[in-house]
Amino acid sequence: MLDPSVFAARREAYMRALGPDAVAVVCSLPERLRNGDSHYRFRQHSDVYYLTGFTEPEAVLVLRPGAPEPSAASDGADGGDARVTMFVRPRDPEMETWEGRRAGVEGARERYGAGAAFPIAELDTRLWGLIANHEELHYSVGLDDEMDLRITAAIARLRKSEKRGRRPPRAIVDPRTVLHEHRLRKSPEEVAILRKACAITALAHRAAMAAGRPGTFEYELEAVIDYTFRRHGGAGAGYGTIVGSGENATILHYVENNQAIADGDLVLIDAGCEYAHYTADITRTWPASGRFTPAQRAVYELVLRAQEGAIALARPGATIDQLHDHCVRTLTAGMIELGLLSGTVDERVADLTYKRFFMHGTSHWLGMDVHDVGAYTHGGTARPLEPGMVITIEPGLYVAPDAPDVPDALRGIGVRIEDDVLITADGHEVLTSATPKQVADVEAACGAAAA
Ligand code: GLY
Ligand code: MN
Ligand code: MN
Repeated sequence: MLDPSVFAARREAYMRALGPDAVAVVCSLPERLRNGDSHYRFRQHSDVYYLTGFTEPEAVLVLRPGAPEPSAASDGADGGDARVTMFVRPRDPEMETWEGRRAGVEGARERYGAGAAFPIAELDTRLWGLIANHEELHYSVGLDDEMDLRITAAIARLRKSEKRGRRPPRAIVDPRTVLHEHRLRKSPEEVAILRKACAITALAHRAAMAAGRPGTFEYELEAVIDYTFRRHGGAGAGYGTIVGSGENATILHYVENNQAIADGDLVLIDAGCEYAHYTADITRTWPASGRFTPAQRAVYELVLRAQEGAIALARPGATIDQLHDHCVRTLTAGMIELGLLSGTVDERVADLTYKRFFMHGTSHWLGMDVHDVGAYTHGGTARPLEPGMVITIEPGLYVAPDAPDVPDALRGIGVRIEDDVLITADGHEVLTSATPKQVADVEAACGAAAA
């Protein structure tokens, strides 16, 4: 969906930041068996995709910013002068008949910007030479044991050849330090894709609200959501869709989605469409009957107040911790008013008892990964937000069905409200505002209310 020039510009920016003494090795993750001989659908590692747009498995990108730029006449066959080297699956008519098309080494050069490209089977014989004589190797240790072994084998080989002028890198550097800082700040074209992901996700939440009734199964709403994602060109869900009705809404990572929705239940749906490798992340909570009960409404309005207050604080210079503190204090005050806690806000915030009912964070980075890359702290303190960063704001309140010492009417109520927010030069923009959120709008969107 993105022009190859976008990926080329990302590589250039990354290589500029790495400097001439560094080399980066960026690898796809292995395909995984689901059961028997069936694999999970392959989805490219976000770092590989970010830098290449390449979507096939078994791909390794090696970036050497200090290597001479390839001349226009070079066919890149020897790889000696290329700053951008790719290892990919070679063309193979028989395998392609069974498994699908491959770009091959020719495609890697012609369509994906590699100065040199080789069959993935040649990785071990070439990798050590490519990483030789660089001070830093930027590589994500610990994601793939097999690739870690290949990297350490290349380093071990270089250690033995140091006397002959081929040094191993002095340090292995995590991609968090450079690459993930680039991914953290979204460019206008990335924001445009996220907008589309959010727009499709809004349609899906609306469709689920319209379809839900007492008696509907949670999986039927998941199906409505999946259908809407795919129908509008999305790749599917960017993470496991949560459809939790009634008490299931109090289980944070409920993904069974297999219960019938009862009259009087709230339905909590946390679902985001992945579009062009970027995902939205939206949660809405709504009454299956089309009308909140007084207790449900009280909890909903409290969570909404906390969320809107946190959104209002989102601007350059603010921190995620400040947004969270706002939610903690607002929700804790509400918990005391509702009879879930006693004492004062300061006391309950200090002794952390509010965590019985609000036990997760308020925000995370959002982008190609739902919990996107990027450091949350700098030097041990929360980093200030900057224009181009995208975060979620998602306070919730969850009362376990068997919670002792709480008003009966509140037991088993779970509410979370989650929006995706772009930090702009002068404040913020809510990318998910097309998803109904105010009480009247939510009730009007519920199909049961109109029936
Ligand atoms: N859906 C995952 C999250 O909200 O963080
Ligand atoms: Mn989230
Ligand atoms: Mn979510």
